[in-house]
Amino acid sequence: MKISSSLETLLGLSLPFITGQPYTVQTNIYAHGKGGREQRVNLCFDPAADFHTYTILWNHHHIVFFVDEVPIRVYKNNEARGIPYPKLQPMGVYSTLWEADDRATRGGLEKINWSKAPFYSYYKDFENDL
Ligand SMILES: *[C@@H]1O[C@H](CO)[C@@H](O)[C@H](O)[C@H]1NC(C)=O
Repeated sequence: MKISSSLETLLGLSLPFITGQPYTVQTNIYAHGKGGREQRVNLCFDPAADFHTYTILWNHHHIVFFVDEVPIRVYKNNEARGIPYPKLQPMGVYSTLWEADDRATRGGLEKINWSKAPFYSYYKDFENDL
């Protein structure tokens, strides 16, 4: 995953999709500018075929990632045990597409087919319950 350094200090959570079989969504949590807390979950659908609901619940107790209302990851606030928890970053939403086929699906075996470019990402019904 390649994220610019300015983003790393801003980003609390990331939810990148890895296209190609198996369809995967990766979660990562950045605290104090450090990530390295990636987890990947295989999706049982092609995320490019239709819209789905992706939710991040983020409060002082935990961060929960949901896909279509099913929790896929819970990250508890364990600051009391010295584990960083994102809470100081300004909040915002940033979306991007990037090329990472050297290490993405199936360890880089699945290459981007550039003849299918340009690639687009669409969003709808965005909600922010702050
Ligand atoms: C790339 O996509 C094109 C158009 O769909 C297809 O004809 C071609 O076989 C694909 N190439 C590879 C390597 O999958």
